[in-house]
Amino acid sequence: MLVLLLIFTIVIYAFAFDKPIVHQVTKPIDHGEGPVWDPRTNLLYFVDVYEGRVLSYNYLTHKLNAICLHGNTTPIVPSKSNPHVLIVGVERSVFAIEWTGENIIYSKKHLVTLSNQFPTSRINDGKADKNGRLWVACLGTMGFESPNGVSINEGILYSITKDTLNYPLPVIQPVNISNGMAWNKANNKFYYIDTPTLSVTEYDYNKESGVISNPKIVFDLTKHESISGFPDGMTIDKDDNLWVALLDGGVVIKIHPTTGDLLQIIALPAKRITSVTWGGPHLDILFVTTSQHGLSPAEKIREPAAGSLFAITNLNTNGLPMFYADIIEEIL
Ligand SMILES: *[C@@H]1O[C@H](CO)[C@@H](O)[C@H](O)[C@H]1NC(C)=O
Repeated sequence: MLVLLLIFTIVIYAFAFDKPIVHQVTKPIDHGEGPVWDPRTNLLYFVDVYEGRVLSYNYLTHKLNAICLHGNTTPIVPSKSNPHVLIVGVERSVFAIEWTGENIIYSKKHLVTLSNQFPTSRINDGKADKNGRLWVACLGTMGFESPNGVSINEGILYSITKDTLNYPLPVIQPVNISNGMAWNKANNKFYYIDTPTLSVTEYDYNKESGVISNPKIVFDLTKHESISGFPDGMTIDKDDNLWVALLDGGVVIKIHPTTGDLLQIIALPAKRITSVTWGGPHLDILFVTTSQHGLSPAEKIREPAAGSLFAITNLNTNGLPMFYADIIEEIL
């Protein structure tokens, strides 16, 4: 009897251990986006876009701090030069801020303003590549923003290096809502999401020049009846599988970028899932940002956790170390 009980317990344990576990990490904010993990400080940074806030969650102490930058704020990309210097987008401009992750910001320096030809556009997403180039996208806005409510074709994806800081290079143009970006382990493929296309596009990527070519759709959301919503933020794991947040879909999906197979679907208690990134000391925790922006009062009652930062564990894989932006000299 005891042996049976023991076997039963082990089976249950193994089963539970294999299943992803979703943890709510913070209380809800308005519109969480752009999570990024810095292993130098054990901080998980993310933004509250429309509230103009940058937040830092300390994985070791569980402390959450925030600063306000005034204006739509995203993305946040740690700088290579110094763990306390962060590159951040506010409206159409890129700034460097000096911040230790506490509640005081020490300095803020304007670096460049993008898309002057589209004055109502704003920066939407960004990431650094292995060479430290900053890839940052502008989005055409017109009043209330929704996946269908942007000025069409006014988006531009730029890349910025130290040398092109004053003249960022348009890389993909036009786009509608430039979002998820990821590079594979071999650093010769670039994965990209323009949200309204409901798909993930793969480009060949020249790691020396940063030039992308040969776009091809590798995942088409409309071919999968089990999921809905809009592809938003994205990351990649050590096996080169992609993890995509589905805005208004309530799930994070894992997809195989060469076969296009939908490998895993993980539900969260919020339908507006905005982005994902790997973090934690072993890069095996998938941090997920969500939003309550635009939810009706009834939906907010149904989804009390919407807008929280979540962490998913037990995924049996992990991420690759993130890349730092290398676009400024050490001293601000
Ligand atoms: C942007 O959206 C419009 C309207 O849906 C569409 O006609 C256009 O082709 C889209 N642009 C791109 C680059 O996908």
